Amino acid sequence: MEIIIKQNATEGSHAAARVVARLIREKPDAVLGLATGSTPLILYNELIRMHRKEGLDFSRVTTFNLDEYVGLPADHEQSYHHFMRENLFRHINIRPENVHIPDGMAEDIPACCAKYEQAITGAGGIGLQVLGIGSDGHVGFNEPTSSFASRTRIKTLTRQTVADNARFFDGDESKVPHHCLTMGIGTIMDARINLLLAFGEDKAEAVAATVEGPVASVMPASILQHHPAAKIFLDEAAAAKLKLSDYYRWVYDNKPDWQQDA
Ligand code: GLP
Repeated sequence: MEIIIKQNATEGSHAAARVVARLIREKPDAVLGLATGSTPLILYNELIRMHRKEGLDFSRVTTFNLDEYVGLPADHEQSYHHFMRENLFRHINIRPENVHIPDGMAEDIPACCAKYEQAITGAGGIGLQVLGIGSDGHVGFNEPTSSFASRTRIKTLTRQTVADNARFFDGDESKVPHHCLTMGIGTIMDARINLLLAFGEDKAEAVAATVEGPVASVMPASILQHHPAAKIFLDEAAAAKLKLSDYYRWVYDNKPDWQQDA
């Protein structure tokens, strides 16, 4: 794991955006895994800026989103289809046919999940996956005790996640769907690079457990300790509970030139 601690969410997100942009420039047909939530918003804004001002070209890029609520149609304001369209896709030159998000309205959910996995494999696998983290350590919607071998499937949200996400549903927990479709931990671990972004003090405990705690399915993001190319972008607040933060800063400040990428 590489731990990158920046002063604030903007600097952390811009550093992550540089890694994404470098991949797209080196490999114009890159396959990206994308996340929703408030965390990646600054990253997406920076990618939009790079598209407009620096010609970052998404015309051959393919994307797969991590997850979607079950029962929300694509045009529902809180669906992740809507989120992605409003916050990224409609501002860049990505082709609609290259965008993939699990279908929360699918009649045959197991078949829909299997098809999603096949589509990822068919695209050559995910080159770079963007991740946020839930306050309970979930990635995608892989809640605590999700199998590390899991693939795209239906999950039931924890009460904590329902409460956390109620802020997007007029603060009304009863409006938050209790089920979702999510890539599995196994799916996420197959991505060649994983970028996890976490900002703010609410994430500090989950970040410390993910980076310095035991690898355990009760803290799903901790599996990233086993990933060969996981970069964790933090602000000071999210890094506040790390015991070895001085060491991570030291490593980052002393990276050889050829390793500089964020
Ligand atoms: C949701 C998403 C996750 C996201 C998490 C954190 O539950 N399914 O992918 O990482 O929430 O959200 P936020 O970034 O708003 O804190």
